Amino acid sequence: MDNRAIGVFDSGLGGLTAVRRLHEIMPEESIIYFGDTGRVPYGTRGRNTIIKYTRQDIRFLLEYDLKAIVVACNTASAAALDTVQGEFDVPIFGTVEPSCEKARAVTKNGRIGVIGTAATVRSGVFERSLKKADAALDVQTVACPLFVPLVENGRVKRGDVVIETVVREYLQPVRERGVDTLILGCTHYPLLHEVIADFMGPSVTLVDSGAEAANALRRAVAPASGGAGETRYFVSDDPAGFAQLASLFLQEDVTGSAGLVDISGY
Ligand code: DGL
Repeated sequence: MDNRAIGVFDSGLGGLTAVRRLHEIMPEESIIYFGDTGRVPYGTRGRNTIIKYTRQDIRFLLEYDLKAIVVACNTASAAALDTVQGEFDVPIFGTVEPSCEKARAVTKNGRIGVIGTAATVRSGVFERSLKKADAALDVQTVACPLFVPLVENGRVKRGDVVIETVVREYLQPVRERGVDTLILGCTHYPLLHEVIADFMGPSVTLVDSGAEAANALRRAVAPASGGAGETRYFVSDDPAGFAQLASLFLQEDVTGSAGLVDISGY
């Protein structure tokens, strides 16, 4: 048993989809969440900037006594995980490997699509990981840079003509390729699950990268005991606006504001 908290971070609130999964499967865990809302998105930035931001996010979380950290951001996992993993004295879990493992387990026709931010797609980590495990896989990756701002503005619902148009535009080539598995390689995208599933059709399995990171963490860490854990939330901007959007990501009622962090000081 280990009652130390789990640290989770993202460039914004997308990482809350990993927290949602942790609440479901490990309700006794205490969680410290940091969303870098003052600097979101990371996905349009260069690798060095993403590494710098990732280090700062981890240093902030390590103000707390943690047993593990989840990089609940595919962009940071793709661009920075390899670099930072050896730099800190705490196990750090990313989203990429668990998502690839899940996709390989569910695909039947060997055709896998991956959607993510521009930085994630540019890094090539998803193709490398999938092909390393099975060179015969057909992998198609597509950057979807408009998804994050649309999600952060709550444009996620079935029937919203803006998001449905953008989904069609980005996913048409993936659908034409005949993939039977689509990795949502950005932790914001599970909010678009319904719209993406409608477009891709019932024969395509969607893999939720935040949830897969949470599943991987559960397999690897000693659990907490002694009743429900507490989750504390921190952001680097607009703590008052946190609750409304966080409720959407977490699918649970969030009241009150988040703590405000000056992340540039870390
Ligand atoms: N949630 C982040 C991810 O999983 C993307 C958001 C961003 O561009 O910062 O990639």
